[in-house]
Amino acid sequence: MRTVGKSLIRKDSLGKVTGSSKFIDDYNLPDQLHAKVLTSTQPHAVIKNIDVRAAMAVPDVKCILTYKDIPGVNILPLIIPDMPFLAEEKVNFPGEAVVLIAARTKSALEEAHRKIKIYYQPIKPVFSIKEAVKKNNIHKSYQILRGDIIKGFKEADVIIENEYFTPYQEHAYIETNGILAQLTEGGGIKILGSMQCPFYVQDAVAKILGIEHNKVQVIQATTGGAFGGKEDVPSLIAGWAALLSYHTKRPVKLILSREEDIISMSKRHPGYIKYKTGIKSNGTLTAVDVQYYLNGGAYATLSPAVIWRGSVHALGPYACENIKIKASAVRTNLVPCGAFRGFGTPQILFAHESQMDIAAHKLNMDPAQLRRINLLKKGDKTSTGQILSQSIGSFKTLNKALKESRWKYKKDKYKKENKINSNIKKGIGISTVFYGVGLGAGGKHHARSGAFVQIHKDGSINIAVGTTEMGQGMQTVLSQITSEAFGIDLNLVNILEVDTSRVPDSGPTVASRSTFTSGNAILDACNKIKERMEVVAGQILKSKTKKFIWENNFIITESNNKGKITYLNLVLECFKRHIHLAQQGWYKAPPTSFNLKDGQGDAYFTYSYAANIAEVEVNIKTFEVTIKKITAAHDMGKAINPKLVEGQIEGGTLQGIGYALMEEVLLKDGRIINPNFSTYIIPTVFDMPVIKPFIIEENYSKGPYGSKGFGELPLMGVAPAIANAVYDACKIRVFELPLTGERLLERSKNAGS
Ligand code: MTE
Ligand code: MOS
Repeated sequence: MRTVGKSLIRKDSLGKVTGSSKFIDDYNLPDQLHAKVLTSTQPHAVIKNIDVRAAMAVPDVKCILTYKDIPGVNILPLIIPDMPFLAEEKVNFPGEAVVLIAARTKSALEEAHRKIKIYYQPIKPVFSIKEAVKKNNIHKSYQILRGDIIKGFKEADVIIENEYFTPYQEHAYIETNGILAQLTEGGGIKILGSMQCPFYVQDAVAKILGIEHNKVQVIQATTGGAFGGKEDVPSLIAGWAALLSYHTKRPVKLILSREEDIISMSKRHPGYIKYKTGIKSNGTLTAVDVQYYLNGGAYATLSPAVIWRGSVHALGPYACENIKIKASAVRTNLVPCGAFRGFGTPQILFAHESQMDIAAHKLNMDPAQLRRINLLKKGDKTSTGQILSQSIGSFKTLNKALKESRWKYKKDKYKKENKINSNIKKGIGISTVFYGVGLGAGGKHHARSGAFVQIHKDGSINIAVGTTEMGQGMQTVLSQITSEAFGIDLNLVNILEVDTSRVPDSGPTVASRSTFTSGNAILDACNKIKERMEVVAGQILKSKTKKFIWENNFIITESNNKGKITYLNLVLECFKRHIHLAQQGWYKAPPTSFNLKDGQGDAYFTYSYAANIAEVEVNIKTFEVTIKKITAAHDMGKAINPKLVEGQIEGGTLQGIGYALMEEVLLKDGRIINPNFSTYIIPTVFDMPVIKPFIIEENYSKGPYGSKGFGELPLMGVAPAIANAVYDACKIRVFELPLTGERLLERSKNAGS
């Protein structure tokens, strides 16, 4: 292949490294107003009165709005329509939007913000999963039932039962959320902003203003990271900016400060998991019983999707016949949680991969060997009863990670060294992971995508899709797929910004789906254009063949290698003959299913796989954990751009290290008290261990050039691999993340799980 499989330089690199890329705060329009949101200080309260008189008197303040000023519907359009754009009689979490302000200057905004008085009558809040369950405050529940767990546990020689707790995780994208809204002459509105899902934003703006979708045009600005954190919330911000613009008839720019963004916007759900595993002395799993809870916060937002994916992945990448998985996302008076790289899988993964490690130690078996005994292979059934038929990289990723990390050698070496060293203990730990690519049966109503491909008369090509670039490299990957289809150089392909008026609703850019779904939509368009061009090629080359090869900027008749025409000449001939060289492409994902009664069905059309091995040092005097090395082997089908794959593995691994060791949202009475990066600590380049990424290509027949997608996987298995390595080093098992020195110290008092 010409460009697919090559580590070509990313399309957006120059703009990003030189600073010429325009992020949303880089845009300014004449007469533009600035906006700010006044949010609730209360976790749960009745709003008795709002006094804006003093604020309205501030010079340069243009307008102050509440829900009463909404001409359309005051409900964010999502899976369960329960969240208002602006609170009405009650507030349900600290950080919930109540009042919007627009002003000519930022200082006027701040002054008005200070002068607005909201009078609350507090109501008793609910914060914990336990309380929420007791009160039956449930956003959404799912269950997966197969076989007979009573029989399964009877067959077990060892039963392991534990409780696990996982924390919030803040996305910490470099760029905070921001939107610029502008009325258009035809009575519509144009939205520009930082976002993952322009079609969600379009829907939300149409709803809040009560106008048709064709009056709302949404364009994605260059976006400074998202990680799931810009899936749903840009709809709120765009709704607010649009409402202010509608009332003031001026362009309105709304950029959140870091504090505002952390306090009010989505995060990874905290989890609580009760996990019971039955296993034979030969290592085979006989039964798994899981109760999985996520703290969804005040509104459902994306919790149904997150808990669904979490439940489907609760068994891990293993075969087991007797399964009972019950999963619920609960409602509390905390910030609503949503999508974050892995969608409810990292939480449950920490539990099942800790369980596997504990089981291996109980059985006196190598943890890698225990996984080998149970890993999914061709013909096996997943927990949902799906029979796997192709593209299963489970064993190859495991074997690659074991070999490259020198697992056995290191394990023995560290054991010996630990006998001699008194303070520093070394350890090595493993996790194995699988991940359903795309939205799966839980989101299948969104599982389609469009594309637009246009060849200009100089042979250069524009492509456009409905999924977004947020740093993962999608623009480059899709450009490579296009240039490969035409057999031409990558620099002939230019990808346009995402614009809802150019490509039909393509679903959200989530679930590592864009390479697969937009890649296939592009190929659909390319193939239709190529068919028309091949008719012309046949006429010019006087060839009857229906088969042409597109290679090295030539179109060649397969039967006769001498019959060839350059791509450029063929484009010119097509233009002369009025051949249509532009095309919309469309792709509908392969079918998936999920039976709500027992959770059986083909949950995803395919899965990607990974194995992570962590090597750590634990200082047993200070309980400081140092990560020395992470070996990560990933199967994503064809790696369209190996360098970008490695970049994803490196970045995702570091994000996983933050989740494992340091990131903690601190709450007081439901309020986030560390909403900035001086107190919410994320890893930096100095925390970067040696990361060794390895690519395994188990091609998927329906993927573009065999590709599946894997953008979320790199983060997912890191925390349990580290926790298992820490146990290997110092024999302390931690059941709660992040695995801080304090927690290690606490657990060391009752060491040995
Ligand atoms: N990588 C960067 N640099 N920035 C991001 O925001 N988001 C992740 C992952 N990698 C993200 C990223 C998440 S949550 C998803 S779902 C995938 O990228 C989406 O991209 P894909 O569909 O192209 O895999
Ligand atoms: Mo990614 S959490 O699916 O946006």
